[in-house]
Amino acid sequence: MFLSICVKSFKIFCETTKNTFSISVFIKMYVIAGSASKAVAEDLSNIFKVPLVNTISKRFPDDEYYFRLEEDVSGKNVLLVQTTFPDKNIVELLLMQDAAREANAGKIIVVIPYFGYSRQDKKFGPGEPISARAVAEHVSLHADLVITVDPHKEHLLDFFKVPAYSCSAVTEIAEYLKTKGIDFVLAPDKGAIDRAKKASKIINCEYDYLEKTRIDGTTVKLQPKNLDTHNKNVAIIDDIISTGGTMAQSIKELKNQGARNVLVACTHGLFVGDAKEKLISAGCDEIISTDTIENEFSKVKAAECISNVLLKKTKIFQ
Ligand code: R5P
Repeated sequence: MFLSICVKSFKIFCETTKNTFSISVFIKMYVIAGSASKAVAEDLSNIFKVPLVNTISKRFPDDEYYFRLEEDVSGKNVLLVQTTFPDKNIVELLLMQDAAREANAGKIIVVIPYFGYSRQDKKFGPGEPISARAVAEHVSLHADLVITVDPHKEHLLDFFKVPAYSCSAVTEIAEYLKTKGIDFVLAPDKGAIDRAKKASKIINCEYDYLEKTRIDGTTVKLQPKNLDTHNKNVAIIDDIISTGGTMAQSIKELKNQGARNVLVACTHGLFVGDAKEKLISAGCDEIISTDTIENEFSKVKAAECISNVLLKKTKIFQ
């Protein structure tokens, strides 16, 4: 925090005094947006007051991707911002990294707002890959540093072959929920309990968790549990909403136990298939996600937490 204030004050001082040295420092960082993360990239460029590089991208008739940097980034540090979901965005990121390398960029910092494939973080059965590691190792080939938001598990960071750090958007989500009069936060499974606890502290309310068993990719089962949620405004917080199965079951449970309003909030809103309809028909009163995956529910911005971790972990801005 102190460092961030110092850096910001230094920047303002330099801008106002038109200090040549500082200008040369700050123009060294360029932001390059991937097609999946334009909002986050734009926000980072605004937060740091650094340029967003013009790029050209298109798909060939066979759907292969074409990417081109329209500006010279030679010797400049670049911040490549791209979520690795769905699959095609992984290839886009690899091509962006290669373009930066070919252009002789300085340091290549890769910001992955949502790290796709993170849920296969180990072998669940023989013959399987460790998918998260496979993606991380390829991304590491042309990266000096990686930043991601709310990784499914913290140990995923160890799969990168370069320093990798995470930040959490829970604070930003909780600040949003504070404006909604939430008086109870629920984690839909034990793995999400720390997130719920942190949010409940910020909102200043109670929290609890459910016990979930996953049957298959689309079906989950919840253990019956008495929750103190009668007539309360409840927010269920998770890292990911994918098919919406976990949240839909939790909403039904809460509504059965007399909750007044039930909001669902996540960092990464995948909303695959009929997830939205599932949530609404379960009785959901509001759906909230960040913009790590841009969608109609991206009401919370992820850039602030990314900028904080960048300021903490890099010297590039100093
Ligand atoms: C699982 O451990 C995750 O934290 C989420 O609970 C899960 O990915 C949500 O998936 P779905 O929306 O398909 O139930």
